[in-house]
Amino acid sequence: MISYNKALRLLTLDNKRIGYAVYVNDAGYLETVYFGKHLASYADFSCIRDGKGYATPVYDAAAGEEYFYADGFKADVAPLEISPHGVWDKRGAPVIVRGANGSFETDLRFVSVRRIGGCHVPEGLPHVHGEGETADITLEDKQLGVRAHLYLTIFPGQDVIVKSFRIENKGKKAVRLVRAMSMQLGLPRSDYDLVHFCGRWAKERDYCCNRIHDGVQEVSSNLGRSSAEENPFVYLKAADATWDYGEVIGFNLIYSGNFRFRVLHGTYGGLHILYGMNDEDFEWTLAPGAAFETPQAVIAYSAAGVDAMSQAFHRFIRENLMTYAGNCDYKPVLFNSWEGCYFDFDTQLILSYIDDACKLGTELFVLDDGWFGARNSDRAGLGDWTVNREKIDLHRVMAHCRERGVKFGIWFEPEMVNYDSDLFRARPAFALGWGRKELTVGRHQFHLDFANGDAVEEIYRQMKAFLDEYPVDYIKWDYNRTVAEHVSAALPPERQGEVYHRLVLGYYSLLARLTSEYPHTMFEGCASGGGRFDLGTLCYCPQIWCSDESDPAQRIDIQFNTSLGYPLSCIGSHVNDSPVASYSAKAALALFGTYGYEMNPNKLTEGEMAELAAMAQVYRDYHRDVIEAGTLYHLRAPFAGNEMCMQCVSQDRRASLVLFMNKLKTPDKFRFLPLKGLDEKKRYRNTLDGAVHTGEYYANVGLNLSQLWMDEFSYRLIILTEEA
Ligand code: GLA
Repeated sequence: MISYNKALRLLTLDNKRIGYAVYVNDAGYLETVYFGKHLASYADFSCIRDGKGYATPVYDAAAGEEYFYADGFKADVAPLEISPHGVWDKRGAPVIVRGANGSFETDLRFVSVRRIGGCHVPEGLPHVHGEGETADITLEDKQLGVRAHLYLTIFPGQDVIVKSFRIENKGKKAVRLVRAMSMQLGLPRSDYDLVHFCGRWAKERDYCCNRIHDGVQEVSSNLGRSSAEENPFVYLKAADATWDYGEVIGFNLIYSGNFRFRVLHGTYGGLHILYGMNDEDFEWTLAPGAAFETPQAVIAYSAAGVDAMSQAFHRFIRENLMTYAGNCDYKPVLFNSWEGCYFDFDTQLILSYIDDACKLGTELFVLDDGWFGARNSDRAGLGDWTVNREKIDLHRVMAHCRERGVKFGIWFEPEMVNYDSDLFRARPAFALGWGRKELTVGRHQFHLDFANGDAVEEIYRQMKAFLDEYPVDYIKWDYNRTVAEHVSAALPPERQGEVYHRLVLGYYSLLARLTSEYPHTMFEGCASGGGRFDLGTLCYCPQIWCSDESDPAQRIDIQFNTSLGYPLSCIGSHVNDSPVASYSAKAALALFGTYGYEMNPNKLTEGEMAELAAMAQVYRDYHRDVIEAGTLYHLRAPFAGNEMCMQCVSQDRRASLVLFMNKLKTPDKFRFLPLKGLDEKKRYRNTLDGAVHTGEYYANVGLNLSQLWMDEFSYRLIILTEEA
């Protein structure tokens, strides 16, 4: 898949689906000459490379001569893999190092390239796995004494390239990294829309689509987490692209902290893209001999529209990112206590919840916030992870679940501390920002200083003690505030620029340790709903709570948009008590995710229970093959009209689930819904009208939804199964 033609100085990555070509020019810079569909031959790259016009002139100080860069290289125009910094090219470098002399100049040039089997493993960071092949390109700035590795990985059968850098200080003095992004990409075209997903609490991942304009556009977070305000998943959609036509390039970062996606439409045309950790307030000291690894960036390529890009991410995330040793291949039907009783419960109430939850087909019962320390409201208790035995008899609760064949899970918020807690009283300096006169609080809590290994160790000790006494099947790992004062009392002044990144490393180290020591406990990510929905978290948590908003009025968009970049099987989705839609409509929506409940089950009528239990059965029957392993098509986008429709087709194309939902009430109208992904020759019975048609019929004529009056947030869930 990877080859380097020494004569042409051309590196190619090609897996018969996509291709990527890098030319090492005479000056030692890496020119990205091609990224796109697989090509039969890369020998003739000269037509792709711009060799015309004036090359950049340079003066050789030693020889006292002015000359032009060879092969027509225009230093500020050519698409590069890594732009230098502090020289002619001002478009933006992914890596900037301040040398021992204080200069910002960073000019990393090609030394060598080698092919390695498999993927690069960046130490301390979540990463991709599997049968990839990696080009390890060594670059060097001799004056700076810095060496860098650029890793480019390609995988068989995946429309994805993974990129990252490793920066090594080979000199005798310390240097300071002031930018360490994961990738640069140059594109020769600029007529794209930039799609990103901004939002806020309970309105995560709104669809934002803007035409690329002159100058810089940026999608970023500086909140300390990947955030509800912007998600690290973004894509560029060619101006003429549709759901199944045209070029679409998706980007994501395997990282849960501050990120920055920056695209420059330069004065000379084309796009210059940088993606990686946000460099705001970033500064990392590299001692002689030390190395720094950037998170990995994932780029998905589609020549066939938005859905193929989305499917490329789904497949890749499932097969090369979410790889667990544990018991996570089936996501059990989950009942969560939070919206049913909040902090207000006792053992008896929870036992009654479990009994009723069982009638809904629950397979995993989760006791949410409020079981530990002095936690009877959000004002106290975070940091004290011991069971409040006066409030809840957890052994009894777990035994009750066991007797009913139901798994048991519990809520934690490991990275936080309330100022009203024993931990804070004993170790105030564990609070991030400690030492300042004023500390901002979010939900009456501070962020723990996870840049301090002792704070991480203390939380590990407490969680381990809990898990050894209560071997739970599941942990919901919450994170309910953003980082404000990014000052660590544990780090010296010259290392305060490391705080943001060290917080994320602390998060990963604790998560990695617990997930490997308790492989049979499934972890679900969460951050005030979906405020940390990212690929870093997904490396450890096979599902993430999508949003605190389960009301279809908002949820339709949140779930649909999330599914553009992330597989449905990782999207935590619950049926709750919100009044806008029926239980069954909410359940149908939750089926297109990991199905669960979150309400007071004691209040449900027998009829509602039966209806929900029937939906749980649909989940059990179809989740694994159709939703989890199948292919997702986005048939109607809620951001583009009154209807939302998603369709999943199993890999063997023997079964399919279609969810059609409308927002505003619509009177009867002539409405046919063509389907996708079915086998043209196979015959399928559908549960809408019981009729049997061929895949060809469904693709071209469609399901007939014409006779249906649709109220607000009413839905049709249609199952298609192959007729023998
Ligand atoms: C966050 C989560 C909720 C719930 C509460 C508990 O808001 O998103 O699901 O766990 O915390 O405090």
